[in-house]
Amino acid sequence: MSDDLDKLFHQAMSSLTSCQTLELCQQIDIKYLGKKGLLTAQLRQLGQMPAEDRPAFGQKVNVHKASLTVALQEKKTALEAEAIKAQIANERIDVTLPGRGQTTGSLHPITIVNNRLVSLLSGFGFKVAVGPEVEDDYHNFEALNFPADHPARDMQDTFFTKTGMLLRTHTSSVQIRSMELQKPPIKIIAPGKAFRADTIDATHTPMFHQIEALAVDKDLHFSDLKSLIYALLSHYFGHEVKIRFRPSYFPFTEPSAEVDLWHNDRWLEVMGCGMVHPNVLAMSDIDPEAYTGYAFGLGIDRLTMLTYGVNDLRDLFSNDIRILSQFPSEHWEGI
Ligand code: FA5
Ligand code: MG
Repeated sequence: MSDDLDKLFHQAMSSLTSCQTLELCQQIDIKYLGKKGLLTAQLRQLGQMPAEDRPAFGQKVNVHKASLTVALQEKKTALEAEAIKAQIANERIDVTLPGRGQTTGSLHPITIVNNRLVSLLSGFGFKVAVGPEVEDDYHNFEALNFPADHPARDMQDTFFTKTGMLLRTHTSSVQIRSMELQKPPIKIIAPGKAFRADTIDATHTPMFHQIEALAVDKDLHFSDLKSLIYALLSHYFGHEVKIRFRPSYFPFTEPSAEVDLWHNDRWLEVMGCGMVHPNVLAMSDIDPEAYTGYAFGLGIDRLTMLTYGVNDLRDLFSNDIRILSQFPSEHWEGI
């Protein structure tokens, strides 16, 4: 019986020697020293032993249990120390490694084009004006000579809120807001977002960007508008451009035209323009007998497509970093 006890003890000690983890230590602890552990069970045999053998056997069990407890504790302490050492080694920062460098972000191509247009038009004497993206019917339609139920409203279907406010369909609403704030001479530009319930395709997105220009003064003529647009686009592209003024209709300009740009062997519409309608001036308390005005609204996204050779407008809004990182701000040669 005493031999069995020794065997059990040595078996426990040898599994402890080869044990490499705290979990295994715990298992050995339970297996031998737990309430139902193998060494603990030995004490239960005392009852069946001759009385004279009991003290020596009992003492031996207790000595083995104590030795195993000490050995287990030592092993656990050693394993814990090793784990901490490994953790420290893992977390060590090698300050001699070369830095990874910092990736520099870049402006969105539409922002780049917008900034350039603002800068060019500022050079022509225009000041930046702003208006809200959530507009009321008056500034987006009514004051621009689109009476309620006018069929031209269908060309600019948009998103309405329950209270009758709407997402502006064009930056032309800022024309009205500017004429409320100042009297002629007026020379403003309004870059910003516009929204329409258009069918989405390669050249139409539900949100897009326009830059509006409005000039109101004495003796402004359609020829002033034409020369401004021609100069603007030629400066923008860095060479003379081929454009055409296609007669068109807007309720707030008369006459009206759309400007198409010849690019890659085809015409692309980039803006609408015209002479400010006398009704619009009158509604804004400007005497149409004394003053005339011209205005245009240019699609910034369309111009961005031409500038960077983007075939599909949706690529500019997909937030794909692989696409967006291809447009360095200083990319102006050869366009
Ligand atoms: C207008 O929005 C007029 N407010 C422009 C204007 C201003 C005329 C001042 C006269 C005086 P139009 O709907 O054509 O016009 O839009 C102007 C430009 O915005 C278009 O030429 C096009 O470049 C761009 N655009 C219009 N809808 C979209 C769209 N869904 N996605 C991308 N660009 C668009
Ligand atoms: Mg148009």
